[in-house]
Amino acid sequence: MFINVSSLNKSYTSGLVRNEVLKGIGMKLEKGEIGVILGPSGSGKSTLMNIIGGVDRADSGRISVDGVEISNLNDDQLTDYRREDIGFVFQFYNLIPNLTVGENIEVVSNISKAPLNMDEVLTAVGMQDKKRRFPRELSGGEQQRVSIARAVVKNPKLLLCDEPTGALDYQTSRSILQLLQQVNTKYGTTILMITHNGAIAAMANRVFKLRSGEIVEEVVNQMTIPAERIEW
Ligand SMILES: Nc1ncnc2c1ncn2[C@@H]1O[C@H](COP(=O)(O)OP(=O)(O)OP(=O)(O)O)[C@@H](O)[C@H]1O
Ligand SMILES: [Mg+2]
Repeated sequence: MFINVSSLNKSYTSGLVRNEVLKGIGMKLEKGEIGVILGPSGSGKSTLMNIIGGVDRADSGRISVDGVEISNLNDDQLTDYRREDIGFVFQFYNLIPNLTVGENIEVVSNISKAPLNMDEVLTAVGMQDKKRRFPRELSGGEQQRVSIARAVVKNPKLLLCDEPTGALDYQTSRSILQLLQQVNTKYGTTILMITHNGAIAAMANRVFKLRSGEIVEEVVNQMTIPAERIEW
């Protein structure tokens, strides 16, 4: 298994109140698969993804990604893991506003061990002709394409997407989902994606339904549906 999470617990304490956010999570995803995490607001989706991505640490439990036990890494090793192995895509793009599209991607490819060719990736996301534009000169959908290019250029082992279509309209959302599916096929990138939208689960190999910090259901799709055929 490429991702193997077991008995994962995480709680936050503020004052005297202890909030158990993840309660014994177990999940698995194979290399090259697309996984979707579905669940209501506050159910722990981002917390789980951030722990898998090495942004946050669990209180207990095990997480291995491509054979590496993340919970055993020290802070420097965790930083390297995050920088080299993980691509992140967020709801609000998080591009650097005073850098052009090309420069936003360069800052990542320059610190990557084995980056992909920037122009190839920009072409793959359909943004090659906007390389010299600034983020504010782009639509939301275009900014998300750039943020996917930025995440993909480092050729990550795992692409983590936290509600990548959360701020986009219907058609643009579908084109971003198609793009993620293309990235998965073209580069073999394993993708784990958070969404509120149950319809999106149809494009995933595995769907994890989270409620109040627990996985209440896991669905394995023998047949996945191309993003362009998903409707909601
Ligand atoms: N850094 C933190 N400190 C304290 N509590 C936190 C922290 N991060 C998350 N929480 C709490 O953990 C719970 C789960 O948060 P999380 O962000 O994982 O939810 P989510 O499922 O991603 O929700 P949404 O769909 O709204 O993004 C929430 O109750 C939240 O308030
Ligand atoms: Mg969240």
